[in-house]
This record gives sequence, C-alpha cells and structure tokens, in this order.
Amino acid sequence: MSDRPWYESFAPPPALPARAWLDTDAPRLSLDGLWRFRYAGRADGPLDFIRPAFDDTGWERLPVPSHWQLHGYGAPAYTNISYPFPLDPPRVPDENPTGDHRHAFRLPEGWPPGGRAVLRLAGADSAARVWLNGVEVGWTSGSRLTSEFDVTEALRPGGDNVVAVRVVQWSAGSYLEDQDMWWLSGLFRGVDLLARPAGGVADVEVRADYDHHTGAGTLTVTAATGQAPARVRVPELGVDVAAGETVRLPRVEPWSAERPRLYDATVSTGAETVTLRIGFRTVRVVDGVLTANGRRLLFRGVNRHEFHPDRGRAVTEEDMREDVLLMKQHNINAVRTSHYPPHPRFLDLCDEYGLWVVDECDLETHGYGTVDWRGNPADDPRWRDALVDRMRRTVERDKNHPSVVLWSLGNESGSGRNLAAMAGWTRRRDPSRPLLYERDWTCRDVDVYSRMYLPVAEVEAIGRGEEAPLDDPALDARRRAMPFIHVEYAHAMGNGPGGLAEYQRLYERYPRLHGGFVWEWIDHGIRARTDDGREFFAYGGDFGEEVHDGNFVADGLLFPDRTSSPGLLDVKKVFEPVQIAGSGDGVAIANRYLDSGLSHLDFRWTLEDDGEVVARGTLAVGDVPAGESTVVRLPSLPATTGEAYVTVCAVLAADEPWAKAGHEVASTQLEVRQPATPRAVTTSPAPVPPRPEGGQLHAGPAVLDGRTGRLVRLGPWEVDGPRLQVWRAPTDNDRAPHGEALEPVWRGAGLDRLTHRVDEVAVTGTGVVVRTRVAPAAVDGALLATYAWTALAGDRLRLVVDIGVEGHVPGPLPMLGVVLGLPGELDQVEWFGRGPGEAYPDTGLATRVGRWFRTVGELQTPYLFPQENGRRAGVRWASVTAGRGGGVRVEGRAPFGLTVRPWTAEALDRAAHPTDLVADGHTWLTLDAGHNGIGSASCGPGVLPGYLLPAAPARLELELRVL
Ligand code: GAL
Repeated sequence: MSDRPWYESFAPPPALPARAWLDTDAPRLSLDGLWRFRYAGRADGPLDFIRPAFDDTGWERLPVPSHWQLHGYGAPAYTNISYPFPLDPPRVPDENPTGDHRHAFRLPEGWPPGGRAVLRLAGADSAARVWLNGVEVGWTSGSRLTSEFDVTEALRPGGDNVVAVRVVQWSAGSYLEDQDMWWLSGLFRGVDLLARPAGGVADVEVRADYDHHTGAGTLTVTAATGQAPARVRVPELGVDVAAGETVRLPRVEPWSAERPRLYDATVSTGAETVTLRIGFRTVRVVDGVLTANGRRLLFRGVNRHEFHPDRGRAVTEEDMREDVLLMKQHNINAVRTSHYPPHPRFLDLCDEYGLWVVDECDLETHGYGTVDWRGNPADDPRWRDALVDRMRRTVERDKNHPSVVLWSLGNESGSGRNLAAMAGWTRRRDPSRPLLYERDWTCRDVDVYSRMYLPVAEVEAIGRGEEAPLDDPALDARRRAMPFIHVEYAHAMGNGPGGLAEYQRLYERYPRLHGGFVWEWIDHGIRARTDDGREFFAYGGDFGEEVHDGNFVADGLLFPDRTSSPGLLDVKKVFEPVQIAGSGDGVAIANRYLDSGLSHLDFRWTLEDDGEVVARGTLAVGDVPAGESTVVRLPSLPATTGEAYVTVCAVLAADEPWAKAGHEVASTQLEVRQPATPRAVTTSPAPVPPRPEGGQLHAGPAVLDGRTGRLVRLGPWEVDGPRLQVWRAPTDNDRAPHGEALEPVWRGAGLDRLTHRVDEVAVTGTGVVVRTRVAPAAVDGALLATYAWTALAGDRLRLVVDIGVEGHVPGPLPMLGVVLGLPGELDQVEWFGRGPGEAYPDTGLATRVGRWFRTVGELQTPYLFPQENGRRAGVRWASVTAGRGGGVRVEGRAPFGLTVRPWTAEALDRAAHPTDLVADGHTWLTLDAGHNGIGSASCGPGVLPGYLLPAAPARLELELRVL
C-alpha cells in the first residue's frame, strides 16, 4: 500500500550497506551537542523545518544523544511483554510522539576532503527520516542498529549546513522491539558526519584464529577498498602483507577474557588508514563442549541492558567503562547484550578489559505471545527481509571483536521461518561463531542449546544429558549433543536472587553446562523527585502509563545509580575463579580460571578471635595452572580463647587495568575454634524473683505490664514489648509476578493480620511467664507464643520465647521471631555474627562472621520497591546504642537473625517507594529464629526445599542487658 507513511513499512530501511564500525584516520565530524527540537503528539506535522532557511529560534534545545522523554517531552512508559499499542502491523497509532530535530553546523576548512560524505546515526529510536539542507537523504529503523546515508550531494562544502531529522516513537520497527524495558525515543546514540575518501577502506574483516595445539595464529584481514590496494600491518608480529592474504604466525599470544591480549594493527590504502585491535582466538563446539582456544568456556555472566537513571539508553563512555570495571571487579567474565547490540564502544571495552560477549540482535516480538503468536513477525514472510537486515547489521558492525564469541538471533520472538533465514544468513556470513537463540527449544536453527530460568533439577538433568526428549528423534539427538547455556537465570529483582550457589555447583560439575547469565545487570529506575524534592527511582506506572508492569523493570544487580546490591556481592562470591576451602589443617586452593595461573594473586590470612584480629600473614601458594589445585599449610596459629576464624583472601598482587593491587578476588572463612562453653544464657548468675508494683511487674531492669505481659521499660528506655512477628514485607520474589507467588498464600492465611491474645501472665518464683495465642480472624489454627522472663543478677534479663503450633497453620511462614520497639535515638548497631551485608537462608553468600558496626540507616537496603531487607544472619550478640551512650545488648544462646529498622514491617509492606518510608520514632529490633528463603520466583523457580521455613515449633533464648 503506497499511501502508508514512511515509518509503516515491513521492508528494511534503504540506508547504506552495513559495515564494521571502524576506527579510521578519515575525518569525522561529530554532530553531537545541543540541537533545536520540536515535539509533537503526531507524526504528520508540517515538514517546514527541513528547509535550511526555517527559523527554529523559537524551538527548545535538546541534547543529542538523548531520549526526549527524559527531557520533559512526553513520558517514559514501561511494559515488559505487552505492546503499548494495538497489534495491527505495520500500522501504528495516530498518537505517535514525534521529535523534529534540527542542527546547523559549519563544515571546517577543507571538508569534505574529497571522496564521499556519509551521515551516520548510531541509534535512533524507533525510526528516523533525515534531510540535509532540505534534501531528503533517507529514513531508517532498527533502533539499536547503525544507519548510514550518503550525503555527498546534499552537503555544502565551506558553508552552513542544516541537518533535520524527524524521529517517531512508533514505527513498524516497534513490532520488532518489544524488549522488557522503558519505551524511550530519540537520537540516543551519536550522530556523525564521516568523510569517505576515494580509495579508502570501506570495510574490514578480521579472522584471527588461534591453534591451541601449536600456539600458532592464523590471520586474514580482508578490506573493501574498491580497486585500491591495501596493506595490513601488525608491527608487533612483523606482519606487513596485502589485505586478503593469510598469514601463519608460529607463535602468538591468544586473546581470552582473562588475558585480553590485543595486537595493534592497521589497514591502509593510500587514502585511508584504519586502526584495529586484533585478538587471536578460536571458538568451537568440540564433542558437545563449547571451547575457546581449546578450553571449556564457563560463563560467569550477566545480561546487560544499556541504562543510566538520567540518560536512559543514551549511555556515555564513562557509563560503559564503569559497567565493564564493575563486572570485572565482581568476577563476572561474560555479558549477553540483552537484547540488542550495545553501543559499539562497549564492545571495544570488552575486547580491552576482557569479557566474553554474546552479541544479540535487536529483535523481540514477545507481545505476540499475548495473542497466541498469531501473526508473529518471526514467521510472517512480509517481515523476512527486515529480520535478516537486523541480523546483517548486527554481524557486520560487530564482526571484528574478539570478545564476541556467540551471535544471538534475538530474544523471545517465538519461532518461525524468518529466524531460520537469519540463522542461515549468519552461518554463511560468519561460520567462526556459534549461534544461539533461546526460544528455539528444538535447536533447529542454532548450535547451542539455551534456556532461561530453569529450576536447578532441570539444569542438572541437562548436565547429565537426561533432559526430556523432543518429539523428533533426529532433532532430539542433535540437541542432546549440544552444549548448554543458561542464558537468563537468577532473576535479581529486589531482595535476592536466592539460590545462586546451587546453580554454580552444577555449571562447574557438568562439562555440558557452560554457566549462564544472571538476569540482569542494572535496575532501570529513572531518577525522579517527590513533590517535596526527595529523590527516588521511578518505575512502571510512575509516569501515568495506562498499561505497565510496575517495578518489574527494577531487577538488576546494581541499583540505578550503579551502587551494588547485596545480590551483586553474592554473584561475586559464587563466581570466584579461585576456590579456597579448608582441608585438614591446610587450605585447599582450586584454580578455576580458564587459562590463567595464580601468580597474579597474593594469598593473605587473618585470624580473628571473637571478631578481633589477633594475627595475620601471607600464604605462599605459588603458581597453580588453570584447572588444577593445591593444598598449602597454614602456619601455626596463636592460641585463641573465643570463637575464632581464619579468613583467607586471594587479592591482586599488582594493579590490573580493572582494579588496584589488593583488590579481593576470592575469600573463605575457616573455623578455628568454637567456644567450649555454651553462650551467656546458661552461664548467667542466679535468678532474682520478680516484684509486683502497681499494675506492673518489675524484673531486674525490666518493667512488664501486669495485664498484657508486655515489656514497657528496660532500664531507662521506654520500650514496646517483644511480640511474635511472622510477617515480612513481601519481597519481589514472594510477590512473584512470573513465578509461584507466596504472598497471596500468606495474605490468604491471614499472616499479615494476626491478632495476639494474652492467655496468662503468671508470676513464678523465678520470673514471669506470658502465654499468648496468635491467630488471624476466620481460621482455627494458631501460633502459641510463650515469653518466659527471668531477671538475673547484674541487671541482666533472660527471655525464652517458645513458639508452638496449634491446629493447622500452613507453611512456609515468612519468618518467625519477635519484634521489640526501642526509642529511636538508639540508632547505632554493633553485632558479632555474619556481615557486613544482609543475609537470608539462601542469600548473603558473601557475608562472613565478624564484628560489624552500622547505623540503623545503613542497615536498610533501598530496594526500589520497598520490601523485606537488611537482615543480618548468624548473630551471636548485638548492641543497639544511642550516640550519647547507653543502649541495649542482646545475646542469643544460638545465633539468631537480626533486623533493625526505623519503621515497622507493616509500614515497609505499605510503601511503594523508599520515600514513602518515614522513621516513626522507634528503632524496631527484630530477632528471628528463622526466615523463609528468598528464591528467585519473581521470574523463575521459588525457594529450594531446604530453605523453606516450616510452620513448626521454634525457640529463641536470649539475654538482654541494659548498657
Ligand atoms: C525474560 C526476558 C527478559 C526479562 C526477564 C524478566 O523472559 O528475556 O527480557 O523480561 O524475562 O525480567
């Protein structure tokens, strides 16, 4: 149909053929900067602005690159799966936010220097039509793909030029870009004018293989230069050959993510020199195992979207470098560029610092799942060329990066013939890299089997080659012989992910399993402010979207401001490339690197006695080759008297490009000694009988209400007595929008509305016993909580809480403990136990036993959607004190869980953003005998059975002391 607008086309855009993103000495003029901008709600506004003489002085200014929604035009909108417009391709709504962009620039002297001139858009979301000096040069779509236009004829050398670009939010391409992220539009990557000299180097293709048997490299660099002869030079290797010639190099150092050895090279014609950084490496599937340079690849990966809380996907080089450095510092060795090719600089950084990359095409049609995949573009012939074009532009742009080891056809686009066409094209074009596409469960079109969010048991079955068969025996046999990648797992939404270690164990155990990519790197929260000016990170729905998926957009290991979440520390721990464990009276050290020894690491040990450092030293480990282990002896340690641990750390011996000397790569805590006698509770002095006075009961430092049995005073502190606490503000994993949700079960069972009935306050010879029955309306099951208070000499107080179960109480429970309200001025917490970070039964892997100190404020983890957080595990004792001195100390007979917050769990439950949480004047001290695990059910499997908290009797034995 010819009267459809330019942006409603099934066909791929008519821009110049795709080619590599090259670093060249041909002049480049960046057009980035402040442009003039006009916003409209429709795409059919006047084209007046394309005229060079058009007066745009009344227009606003907008930076390029940017998204206009983040500069006050229109609004961001978030959906995960649903398209925010009716499905009727290639048509889009009349309400089509549109940005007209204008930029006047003067060409510098001598520009263009001969040859042709090309205008390059590195990213325009979602489609752009381009004019130069009033002449239309073309249109493009494919938001995260590069487009180039020949502008030679339109350019005015030596004079003023005006580029005009109309960008529409919705286009036919939007049907192919249904990724789970904000809908954000505009020229969000750079705009450049490139000189293309006659006889220059239009494109380059590098093949740099490595033979791990011989250590030899094979290098072929071909160049598209028209007729011009080109030379390829790699000075360090003495290479100086004609382009296209294959050179065998008897000895090269290979590239790997661990040792990202790059060789500087040039490709020159008389007219242009292109600079390359070459990495020699060979990626191959050998006997069902994915290898790089002959070694089995194990991805300790993350899925990375491009994101910045102020700039959206218009990330800067500093943002990208920060991502790479943070990944390296957290033992991450691989990235899947979910779900589109990243800014090309990101891949340069991956080459340079060393990260394995799965480069994914800009394709997702997930929302077709909502209509049973009817009309899925992946299987509709009208879309075929557009899909192949997207793959072509991905592969051509990124083909020379040694870091890119696999191509991915896209994400969640169902199945279909067009995917097969993309795969076919890619195989022909680049047989050097295996192909992956997660939704191809039959693996008809791919080389690697990949799935997302599988339960541990299913991953294990795949590891053993015992997965459920496909109907087609031939396909089944083919798939069974393939390597496996868990392309998304461990959904890092909110508190969690739980259960990382169980996956890692399998990846390390079964050669068929090549690890995976945690979902995902960063929360996509957009920085916003409350009416009274307090900052928070907005998520879906905060911009008034009609259809949205709430805080599902915040599921990263980093908070939006790139501070790390507890989950990232867990990831760092399970991804440790060196494993340190106790072994008799020595330390076993296993090198899990792919191809590095251990000589870049120093091993240090520290002995702590009851949390105090009493000795430290270093271990001589020597160089242990990749894949091998050693056992070293610890020196004889000084005697200790308390609970003692040796912590062994592997740290960088010298500065690396991604971290300083001393950076901790791996660590383990080994128990040296447990105290011989049980803790305080049993060793305390004899009880002091309670004393009734008025309506109150005085027991040592405690004053209890005689009727309610509640503790009302502890020494000088007014308190709100310990009360059974079962509720936790549901985590995203408890709420489980795409998994098995516990929250509705818990609310259904009334666990968020328990009533407490006091059945007896008994004064005994040695103390006070308060019996309570705790149950919600409408059910007959209950928890029975008995608080037994005993005052001890020396102003100590023993509290034994026995929790029983009466009748049917469904499990798992959120938690089991008591909460005690202290005055808010007690806002400093010291504890001896696991720390410094939060820990739940299946998280907190990076925590270790020690003496830690935090303010109450610092104990809170600011998840974008408020939820249970901040618990410290394995606490032996804790003191909560005021800045001016004084406070309360709690010691457990057995280690307990400790949560201290300036608001209640119920307030946490009601809040939608951290800014809704206001300190209520109390410090709420929660001491627990157990919490349910965290799991990863926000998208994926729930809590593993071993981490469930049953509704079963429990006991907390505590001793309190006024400080
Ligand atoms: C996957 C999808 C991702 C993201 C994730 C949940 O299915 O590939 O893009 O939506 O689920 O956060």
